Amino acid sequence: MLTERVTRVFDVDSVRQDFPTLHQEVYGKPLIYFDNGATSQKPQTVIDTINRYYTSENANIHRGVHYLSQKATDAYEEARRVIRDFINAPEEETVIFTKGTTDSINLLAFSIGETLQKGDEIIISEMEHHSNIVPWQMMCERKGCILKVIPINDRGELEMDAFRSLLSDRTRLVGITHISNTLGTINPIETIISEAHKKGAWVMIDGAQSIQHLKIDVQQLDCDFYVFSGHKVFGPTGVGIMYGKKEILDQLPPYQGGGDMIDKVSFEKTTYNVLPFKFEAGTPHISGGIALAEAFRYLDQFDHEALMAHENELITYAEEQLLMIDGLRIIGTAKHKTSVASFVVDGMHPFDIGTLLDKQGIAVRTGHHCTQPLMDRFNIPGTVRASFAFYNTREEIDNFITALKRSVNMLR
Ligand code: ALA
Repeated sequence: MLTERVTRVFDVDSVRQDFPTLHQEVYGKPLIYFDNGATSQKPQTVIDTINRYYTSENANIHRGVHYLSQKATDAYEEARRVIRDFINAPEEETVIFTKGTTDSINLLAFSIGETLQKGDEIIISEMEHHSNIVPWQMMCERKGCILKVIPINDRGELEMDAFRSLLSDRTRLVGITHISNTLGTINPIETIISEAHKKGAWVMIDGAQSIQHLKIDVQQLDCDFYVFSGHKVFGPTGVGIMYGKKEILDQLPPYQGGGDMIDKVSFEKTTYNVLPFKFEAGTPHISGGIALAEAFRYLDQFDHEALMAHENELITYAEEQLLMIDGLRIIGTAKHKTSVASFVVDGMHPFDIGTLLDKQGIAVRTGHHCTQPLMDRFNIPGTVRASFAFYNTREEIDNFITALKRSVNMLR
């Protein structure tokens, strides 16, 4: 359990030893992994947990009377408690296992959509990832609801006055990213939550890019839903979380039908299981859930402030260095931002820069980052994005800047 934590002093060199993937060469150069916004690397303890599960604990859960099934069920439900503790959810049944952020949002868009009337409104923002646009669009089309979009300013911050004017008596949900995957902007979600609540609307926070950087306390935030993916927070791919307030989840209809989510099935009428199982149809990603909890145990060894201070130092330093490059423009200059440096260089395609960086061992993401409307807002085809985690170093940034200058000079 998280409550039995032992504090480990944060030291980046020692921490890097925990992540085997970081210690390899790419095209004969030491790997510099700056694509943490896409997915994070995994500490050995997470890898060992997956290995141990399949080596000696594998069984289906919530079903068997036999020893292994009981053991796997206990481990999975213990994982749920660890995750509840990490985000400070009030009850463990409010922590629903999903496949990831996209799956969590699709679940909510479907399930909430079933409760909406024609003309009801959903608010999202111009900086959302496609996974927080398209599910709501699909639902609005199905139910005759209206999707409204909060604009952003040139720094990549939400226009809060516009947000206030979009809120109406028909607003049913505000779905907003906590941190933009493309800009790094940290949105003022506390204000958004309290203003939306005044209008009686629910708020869903897309935490895909915040769970790995910020301290999350869903009760303190008072958000109605908080969703994230395991793989961006040092856990496995294919598993994620949808947290929701119990009184709301109790009202919502299930998303998918199948095993585990039922109470009683007959051809005349089926009744549904209680939370969390009502939203967890079928055999889940058992090893993934257990390993995700291990990722949280790993993170919980550290003083969170120390991790954040290191990450803030990295982004500040990286942006200072980037701005010294002729013709380079940072996309996303919000006052409150973290861990993402997105940029374009005059006359150069981001893909070409990314390809040249790759040949020098540096992993960045290029393109629209699944935020095409945001690219349209800035009138650019895409960016080069360097996104950092606490295991990155200042020295890696120095090497990245040298490689970037070399790439830019080659393309000039
Ligand atoms: N959403 C992930 C990213 O920003 C994949 O790269």
